[in-house]
Amino acid sequence: MRNVGVTLGETAVLDDVSLHVGQGEFVSILGPSGAGKSTLFRLLTGALAPDRGEILRDCAPLKLDGQTFAFMPQRDALMPWRRIIDNVILGLEVQGVPRAEARARALPLFVEFGLEGFEQRYPAELSGGMRQRAALLRTVIQARPIQLLDEPSACSTRSPAHRCSAGWKTAGGPRAGPRCLSPMMCARRWPFRIASMCCRAVPPA
Ligand SMILES: Nc1ncnc2c1ncn2[C@@H]1O[C@H](COP(=O)(O)OP(=O)(O)OP(=O)(O)O)[C@@H](O)[C@H]1O
Ligand SMILES: [Mg+2]
Repeated sequence: MRNVGVTLGETAVLDDVSLHVGQGEFVSILGPSGAGKSTLFRLLTGALAPDRGEILRDCAPLKLDGQTFAFMPQRDALMPWRRIIDNVILGLEVQGVPRAEARARALPLFVEFGLEGFEQRYPAELSGGMRQRAALLRTVIQARPIQLLDEPSACSTRSPAHRCSAGWKTAGGPRAGPRCLSPMMCARRWPFRIASMCCRAVPPA
């Protein structure tokens, strides 16, 4: 992003924001509530157009072709009528992967994401953290070049954080060389909890 700015209503939410994320990096964006972290993701996914500045990928204007990003929204957005396994494979199905193949790809990852035994449950039967991890798995399994994780609070306890980190790798994260942007609310403990997974944080804590 180069010199990006966006105003919503009367509020200049982002002003002159420049940010570069390199191949294979896992970058956390830190800021208090309302700082504009989710807005930044809305710009990247094309849900919102910047008023100023430009967004580039590999030095060319970013194409909004639906191929670049896998996005985990701040709210888990699990579909209540689909079982967890079928929520997890949703992105793969959208990519055109047959349902049976998508399930076969997803099922081995349930252990690492702390969801083993809940494959056939519905979202309403899961805890908040489990729902978040299902949403995280739904995102990383898509193996898109860039992964956007908006408040992946599944990582807020030590054990799932490590499991998700391992799962992220298993799901083809570093192998596929993704670039990850992970906004974090500036709750004080978060930068430390996420430290083992991040390459760097923006701005420095
Ligand atoms: N559609 C909108 N119209 C006007 N203001 C908006 C709109 N959407 C967001 N905002 C404002 O933009 C600012 C940034 O919102 P954003 O959701 O990006 O914050 P955030 O950093 O993700 O916060 P949080 O950590 O609470 O998720 C807030 O002040 C919010 O009120
Ligand atoms: Mg937000």
